[in-house]
Amino acid sequence: MKGILLAGGHGSRLHPLTLAVSKQLLPVNDKPMIYYPLSVLMLAGIREITIISTPHDLPQIRRLLGDGASLGLRLDYVEQPVPGGLAEAFILAADNIGDDPVALVLGDNVFHGHNFYEILQSAAHDVDGCVLFGYPVEDPERYGVGVTDAEGRLVSIEEKPARPSSNRAIVGLYFYDNDVIDIAKNLRPSPRGELEITDVNQHYLRRGKARLIDLGRGFAWLDAGTPSSLLAAGQYVSVLEQRQGVRIACVEEVALRMGFIDAEACERLGARLPASSYGAYVRSIAAELA
Ligand code: TTP
Repeated sequence: MKGILLAGGHGSRLHPLTLAVSKQLLPVNDKPMIYYPLSVLMLAGIREITIISTPHDLPQIRRLLGDGASLGLRLDYVEQPVPGGLAEAFILAADNIGDDPVALVLGDNVFHGHNFYEILQSAAHDVDGCVLFGYPVEDPERYGVGVTDAEGRLVSIEEKPARPSSNRAIVGLYFYDNDVIDIAKNLRPSPRGELEITDVNQHYLRRGKARLIDLGRGFAWLDAGTPSSLLAAGQYVSVLEQRQGVRIACVEEVALRMGFIDAEACERLGARLPASSYGAYVRSIAAELA
């Protein structure tokens, strides 16, 4: 399975923060926002990842993550000249996806919760159609909303409904079989001029091949796209990290635990950040798991 990390967009709700700096490089507590979605793809076992961003922001993201080899990854970078919608990602990354299934994660989404590794592994296994994730929110009218029948089967998707039939928002993490490339190529732009991910999902739904997994109320799904949600995401991470003494979305730790790198390589990554507590944490994990 291949991965796509979509890290472009306008970032207009965060202006002026994002006039010069990519939204996905802003801090969420102790690390750049992009570490959170990157660690999600890594936990799903995905090592070949295409990072898509604007021509302006892509060089900075590349400066941070490089070719990914130090994390045991292969990272490719593709420009999205203008934000043409989430579904455009599959067209832009088509060459890198090849004949494989693919997972797409949005660059400003933060996930955290018990059993997430198991949930991701099961979603990534043998994808036939698409796998979506639902999360209960107070304001479903702001999102694509998944409606299920009594057996939990997905029966409809409503896009930003004025009167939502459920409170289950569809989150920014999607798994698809390889048909998604052709489906995306045949989409027409919506009235707002974008290739919509909801139209892709509707396509799978019509074929009876869309599955919705509930993340449930014990889980945290945050998006960091507005000043208040960016602050809330940082506070959430800070509270948990301080209380538990573990870090969320430490990509070096994830690479080590997933077996993408060994403890020695992890130690070297930590040693490159000698003055920060983040670097000390990476080194302590390397020592613990050596
Ligand atoms: P959004 O939050 O929908 O949009 P945005 O980032 O452009 O921000 P704003 O609404 O404040 O102007 O995007 C969700 C994620 O997808 C985010 O990480 C940016 C990314 N994205 C792209 O990379 N390309 C696109 O064409 C779109 C629409 C979004």
